[in-house]
Amino acid sequence: MKTSPHRLLVSTLLITGGAGFIGSNLIRFLLRTTDVRIVNLDALTYAGNLENLSDVEHNPRLTFVRGSITNTDLVDQIITKHSIDGIINCAAESHVDRSIASAAPFVDTNVAGTLVLLEAAKKHRLERFLQMSTDEVYGSLGPTGAFSEETPIAPNSPYSASKAAADLLVRAFVHTHGLPAVITRCSNNYGPYQFPEKFLPVMILKAMEDLPMPLYGNGLQVRDWIHVDDHCAAVWLVYTKGRIGDVYNIGAENERPNLHVAREILRGLRKDESLLTYVTDRPGHDVRYAINATKIRSELGWLPTRSFDEGLRATIAWYGAHQDWCTSIRSGSYKDYYERHYTEGT
Ligand code: NAD
Ligand code: TYD
Repeated sequence: MKTSPHRLLVSTLLITGGAGFIGSNLIRFLLRTTDVRIVNLDALTYAGNLENLSDVEHNPRLTFVRGSITNTDLVDQIITKHSIDGIINCAAESHVDRSIASAAPFVDTNVAGTLVLLEAAKKHRLERFLQMSTDEVYGSLGPTGAFSEETPIAPNSPYSASKAAADLLVRAFVHTHGLPAVITRCSNNYGPYQFPEKFLPVMILKAMEDLPMPLYGNGLQVRDWIHVDDHCAAVWLVYTKGRIGDVYNIGAENERPNLHVAREILRGLRKDESLLTYVTDRPGHDVRYAINATKIRSELGWLPTRSFDEGLRATIAWYGAHQDWCTSIRSGSYKDYYERHYTEGT
């Protein structure tokens, strides 16, 4: 399938999951750096928070639709009504711990929902489909080495298994139907608007409040951190310039054991090490992730711009300056934002 990336129209994009952490940052990034119009389709699960987009909600280039990517008729209707040119699929159940407690919603959204979007992209002959995947599909590493795009997928959690299944569907649609799709696999993101169930915001908010900071197991598991801004820039580069059918790893060469990150947060907030608390480990906990991002660097010229030290300082400061956002999540009032600020769905 040959589609010149330079001939992409990209006038109107469907971004799914745009009320979540990465989706909301991606929407802000695209409104700031491109002319595209965006339709954001989000089911507003517990992780979907329209307050993440409050600063851009009146932008005439952004439309919000509340609904699920598993709803074939709704997806079809949106694509027709808004003359959608392409899809970036960020919608997902995204938390490993929740997938251990209950895997069914992960299969529903991450696998069945992705299939609905793929069928729609095929039916409407969209010019591009980007599947936002994760490095977790590769499984866990030993002490050395890094995941490349050639690393066989070997997911260990129900979350990563559902993401791997979606990746395989994307691959099959490219191979069988010639769908112009690309896949990105990024490492652990951090930055503003991350829901406080993931490691970084959990640790920052606990430390701010002098509460125990829960480290799973021995705290020596390694994650490869990237600022969400760098991820968003990479995704857009892959959407516009990536080779159809290809996978692109995204990572910023920032490997850190969880314990070290927790200590950096303590230092940043001038808090005491006694807050560190070792708790029962996660079942099947992946020990180490690390990304080899040579392909996106050499083929597409992408480079991360945020150092971890600076990015972490900025993220700690962001959570400190957005106590209202944190309080709204804690009280659950963020769930009413849609009723308070939006009057119609489509
Ligand atoms: P998130 O949990 O913060 O946001 C997910 C969003 O999807 C929410 O707004 C939620 O309401 C929405 N959603 C869930 N089910 C839906 C459905 N059926 N229909 C429509 N919307 C639905 O997740 P995130 O951290 O922003 O992750 C975004 C994507 O990036 C996911 O696909 C995830 O697998 C991938 N990813 C995340 C990271 C990370 O570190 N957070 C790293 C690599 C890849
Ligand atoms: P998480 O943010 O859930 O991302 P993922 O598991 O998808 O990489 O967790 C990041 C790391 O932090 C992982 O090794 C699990 C660990 N962790 C803790 O030690 N304590 C916590 O409270 C959380 C949420 C995670």
